[in-house]
Amino acid sequence: VKLDPTVIIIFGASGDLTQRKIIPAIYNLFIDGLLPEPFCIIGIARTSSDDETFRQQLRKGVDTFSRRGKSKDDDWSKFAATISYMAADYHDEITYRNLLEELNKGWYKSANKVLYLATPPTLFTVIVEQLGQQQVFRGKTSYRIVIEKPFGRDLESARMVNQVLTGVFDEGQIYRIDHYLGKETVQNILAFRFANAMWEPIWNRSFIDHVQITVAEKVGVGKRGGYYEGAGALRDMLQNHLLQVMCLVAMEPPTSFQADEVRNKRVDVLNAIRPIGKDEVEKFAVRGQYGKGVVDDLPVPAYREEENVAADSGRETFVAMKLFIDNWRWQGVPFYLRTGKHLPGRVSEISLQFRPVPHHPFSDKVMQSNRLAIQIEPKEGIMLRTQAKEPGPGMKIKPVEMHYTYQEVFQSSSPEAYETLLLDVVRGDPGLFMRNDQVETAWSVLESVLEHWEETSPADFPNYAPGEWGPESAEDLITQDGRTWLVPACLEFKEKE
Ligand code: BG6
Repeated sequence: VKLDPTVIIIFGASGDLTQRKIIPAIYNLFIDGLLPEPFCIIGIARTSSDDETFRQQLRKGVDTFSRRGKSKDDDWSKFAATISYMAADYHDEITYRNLLEELNKGWYKSANKVLYLATPPTLFTVIVEQLGQQQVFRGKTSYRIVIEKPFGRDLESARMVNQVLTGVFDEGQIYRIDHYLGKETVQNILAFRFANAMWEPIWNRSFIDHVQITVAEKVGVGKRGGYYEGAGALRDMLQNHLLQVMCLVAMEPPTSFQADEVRNKRVDVLNAIRPIGKDEVEKFAVRGQYGKGVVDDLPVPAYREEENVAADSGRETFVAMKLFIDNWRWQGVPFYLRTGKHLPGRVSEISLQFRPVPHHPFSDKVMQSNRLAIQIEPKEGIMLRTQAKEPGPGMKIKPVEMHYTYQEVFQSSSPEAYETLLLDVVRGDPGLFMRNDQVETAWSVLESVLEHWEETSPADFPNYAPGEWGPESAEDLITQDGRTWLVPACLEFKEKE
C-alpha cells in the first residue's frame, strides 16, 4: 500500500522518550523502507539548538537504543536529512502560528501531519488548546495527534484531558499510546486465540480455573523518582498495560479486525469487571514498596532513598490485584494481576491455569493441572504444560512442556512496539490505540483502590526486598483462595538449567 507523504512533528523533542523510543523506531522504519516518500520530522523543544546539533543528539539515541545497534554513516546521513529542529515556547501562541504556517507550505500542505506530544503530561492540554486556537482540526483527517500516558491520574482528570482533546480533534484523529499493545507477543494473543479453532471451546469458566498476569521488572525506579512519586505501580503499569493485556485474554471473538470492532470487544471486558467496594479494597488489592538490598551482587537503595523520593514515601512500587469479570464466559474465574519494580527478573507472562482432571485414575497423588503460558518477554513464545507417562515400569505421570519460542520459529527479529505503533499512525489505523472510553473505564475500575490508598498510608513500607516477588501480603492474596503464584515459565526453565 502506498502511503501518503507525512510530516511528524514531535513536541518534547529533546526529551528521553524521543531519544530512546520515538526516533530509534522511526529510524528502523526508515531503514526498512516502510516510511512514505516524502517524509520528514520536525522536532520542537524549549532548548535553543540548531538542526545539526539536534541530529547529532538523536544519532546518539539511535546508536544506543535501536535494536539494530550503531547506525551506518550512509544510512544516518540520509535519515538525518529528513530532520529539522524548532526551539519554541509552548505557552506562546507565536509557536503555533509559525508551525502551522510552515505546515501550509510546499508538499507539507497536502501531506498527513502527525502531532506527537512527547512532553510531560502537564503540557498536553496547553499544547492542544493552543493548537485549537489557531486552526480548526476537527474532521481534517490529514491531522493526527499522538499522546502518551499518563492520560490523567484518575477518572476525573482523565475526563478533563479527554475533554480538551476532543474539544479540538475528533476521536478518530486521536492516537493514545499504550506501548504494550504494539508488542508482537501481545498482538499474537489475538492470532493465537482466533486463528486456531481448538482454544475457543475451552477458553472459559468450564475449563479455566484462573488466570495470572505478571509483568515484573528487575530494575528499580532509577532516575524517574519524581514522576513515580506521583504515579506508583497501579497508575504506571496496572491501569494501562496489565488491564489491556487482560482485555485481550478475556475478550469475545471479534467479527473483524476493524479498529472499533476490536476496541469495542476490549472495552466490554473492562465494563464487565466487578466493581470493588471501598470497604473491600484490602481483599482485592495489595501494595508494596521495595527496601534496600542487593541485585546481581550490587547494593541497591530502598525506594525511599531514590532521587526525588520522599524519605517517608507511601508510594507503591508493587501491586497485586484480584479481579472478576462478571459475564457468561468468566463468571467466578479470578484474574490475578501483579507488577512491580525490583522483582526477581524482567519477565511478562500470562498463565491460564486449567482445572484439574475430573477423575484421577493414576496412583500419583500430586498431579499438576494443564497450564498455558503466553510469554510476552523475554523468550517470547508459548508454553503448554501437559502430563505424560514417564518411560519405565508402572504408570508414573510427569509434567512435560510443549513449547515454541519466537527465536526458534521466526528468524527475523521482531519490530519494537514503537515501530508498529508509529507505522499504524502513519497508515491511519487506530486499532492498537486507546479510545477515550477505554481509558476512562480502566480508571473507573480502579477508582475505589486509588481512593482507599490515598486515604490510608501503608504502615509496613518498605515491605519487600529487591529480588523478592513483592510483600508477603501478595502471597496471601492468592493463597487464601487455595492457589499459588506460578513461577513464570522462563524463570522456571532457568532454574532447571
Ligand atoms: C512504562 C512505564 O509504561 O513501561 C515504566 O512507565 C516501565 O515504568 C515500562 O518501566 C515497561 O515497559 P517494557 O516495554 O520495558 O516492559
